[in-house]
Amino acid sequence: MIALRPDQYAALAAMAETEAGLHMPPAKRTFVTSRLQRRLRRTGLADFDAYLGLLNANDAAGRAERRHFVSALTTNVTGIYREPHHFDLLADRLRAHLSVGRHPRFRVWSAGCSTGEEPLSIAAVCRTHLGPMWAHRCEILATDVDAEVIEAAGNRTPDAALMAALSRGPVPGDADPAVGTPERLFASLQSGIRYTVHNLLHPLEETLGFDAIFCRNVTIYFSPPAQTRVHANLRAQLRPGGLLALGHSERLRDGAGDLRPVGRTAFQRTGARDLPSKATA
Ligand SMILES: C[S@@+](CC[C@H](N)C(=O)[O-])C[C@H]1O[C@@H](n2cnc3c(N)ncnc32)[C@H](O)[C@@H]1O
Repeated sequence: MIALRPDQYAALAAMAETEAGLHMPPAKRTFVTSRLQRRLRRTGLADFDAYLGLLNANDAAGRAERRHFVSALTTNVTGIYREPHHFDLLADRLRAHLSVGRHPRFRVWSAGCSTGEEPLSIAAVCRTHLGPMWAHRCEILATDVDAEVIEAAGNRTPDAALMAALSRGPVPGDADPAVGTPERLFASLQSGIRYTVHNLLHPLEETLGFDAIFCRNVTIYFSPPAQTRVHANLRAQLRPGGLLALGHSERLRDGAGDLRPVGRTAFQRTGARDLPSKATA
């Protein structure tokens, strides 16, 4: 294993903070050293000084390596219906939305979606309530800073374990029990999800807002200023009445403000929406 000196570690930690908000205190040095060995091998560089040179390069190679660097340091653990109580709240929100006479598309953002289990679970809840044509009335945006997981999520195929997990949803089905083959069901779920790379440190260039935002187990790895910045960017995208779900050990840095607690690490917007331009760049 190629060794990492404290000064090199400090430079890499600063880069992780700038690029993705990731907080890398000295205690994480072993983790970082081990995660970056593969990048050293892949790039054929001899040591971390050479690697830092590449990371800091202001050209296409430097930009590409900064993406691999972030990907190497992120934790992508996820699961179908992880923290299931949030999917019950999502179903409540969807029912309330549908109860209004003329309603716009129900829009959900899975922010920090990893390999897609979270948006697939959201899609399954929407489909349970709306049936096979659910994607005409709902839209799910699934984003992650890690281009590798976004590619994996968009290209995945249904395996038996995934489909079995999806069929064990926490929301009782009231529509369309005849779902056809696992492949058809999976294609139906994927059809309403748009996967794209997005860094939550930056405002999302969307004007329509969202009825629900899931940003779970993402900011737990961030520095406090980065958490504040990300939460401001999420709030700016929440429609009035919209649901914000955070991970079980996350909290809103700047207090709840016009977000009313509605369950475990879940909030509902009571006030009007900020303009996206007010979000933190
Ligand atoms: C532990 S996974 C959580 C996945 C899912 N939300 C869940 O709770 O099951 C955290 C995800 O956040 C992503 N992430 C980390 N920093 C990010 C950033 N600055 N912007 C967007 N996504 C980020 C990681 O790439 C990773 O896929």
